Amino acid sequence: MFTIDTYLPTRIIFGCGRLEELKSLELPGKKALICITADRLMHTLGILERVERLLQENGTDYVIYDKVQPNPTKACVEEATALAVQCGCDFTLGLGGGSSIDTAKGCALMLALEGDLWDYAYTGTGGRKEAKKAYPVVTITTTCGTGTECDQYCVITNQDTNEKLDFTSEAIFPTLSIIDPELMCSLPRTLTIYQGFDALFHNAECYVTNGHRNRMLDLYAADGVRTVARYLPYVISVPGDLEARTNMAYAADILGGYSMALDSVTSHHILGQTLGGFYNKFPHGAALIAVAEAYYKKVCSLLPQEFDELGELMGEQRNADKPGYAYVKALMRLLEETGVGELKMSEFGVRKEDFVKIVDMTVNQVGINIDRYKLTEADFMEILEQSWR
Ligand SMILES: [Fe+2]
Repeated sequence: MFTIDTYLPTRIIFGCGRLEELKSLELPGKKALICITADRLMHTLGILERVERLLQENGTDYVIYDKVQPNPTKACVEEATALAVQCGCDFTLGLGGGSSIDTAKGCALMLALEGDLWDYAYTGTGGRKEAKKAYPVVTITTTCGTGTECDQYCVITNQDTNEKLDFTSEAIFPTLSIIDPELMCSLPRTLTIYQGFDALFHNAECYVTNGHRNRMLDLYAADGVRTVARYLPYVISVPGDLEARTNMAYAADILGGYSMALDSVTSHHILGQTLGGFYNKFPHGAALIAVAEAYYKKVCSLLPQEFDELGELMGEQRNADKPGYAYVKALMRLLEETGVGELKMSEFGVRKEDFVKIVDMTVNQVGINIDRYKLTEADFMEILEQSWR
């Protein structure tokens, strides 16, 4: 006997060339707040211009907020929300990667709720109020990594407190997500690698947390892990290959999103997010990569069955003498193949003297009770020390 709980309400338009359908799709409002990053990448690639044309053909009005930062900030959400109120927007549209989409989700919450955004954060210094409503969110993703296209979370950084926290509400499941792998062919190599590993970890961590309880999640997460392991090295060597891009987008944006919608990541992600909160220029995927080897060497024997299964999904064999180590081997091979095995956290501004604060934030302020194993502050300190380069 087993039970299933599932709620995956996002309408997904997935496939090469399908952005064009925006001109005739039913949208959840009359005027969109479009959130894009300040680096002008959406302008340079011609994607913003295309989306503007399609919205005009659709008969939908819009206003553009173009100051989103990587590791999107509470200040950006507040500024964009003020713009949306001033212009009378009735839905938000995240165009780009996770930063743009999560800013759009944060705005959607603030447009519908009273008070301060941090009142609704569930950890750290957050007020832990329940966010029961939001304006509708549409996403048009140009990256493959975060899974935010299909889940009920957004991650926002508070620069006053150095916290990078999750906000959770069923109201911010996007109403509609357009995932067109053609838009991803021009992604820079390093971003493709960082996001590919982020996608791998979303699927793998949820697989571990789930512990086979929800059989549907196992289907999504296992296929996600298998697909990233197979296609990430390929998409790096042949960046314009649409078959590989399509597979990566499927694993990252749909399967990763579904996995996280149904269960939780592990403290690997809490540590990665904390690093991103302290060092705003440390890309999320890079932070996860930097601590991955030491983290999984520490935990693989604590849930050997799940970690050996993950290793097998990535093409490794289990070894009875080293329970759970198949995943570590598979991970190290993939890190090597993609050229990020020696990634240096010091190059992203991380300072050893901050380790005590980082561990305290991870363990005591944000919290790691999502794990099925028990790690201590000393364990995290050891993981950081061993990851230091
Ligand atoms: Fe992530």
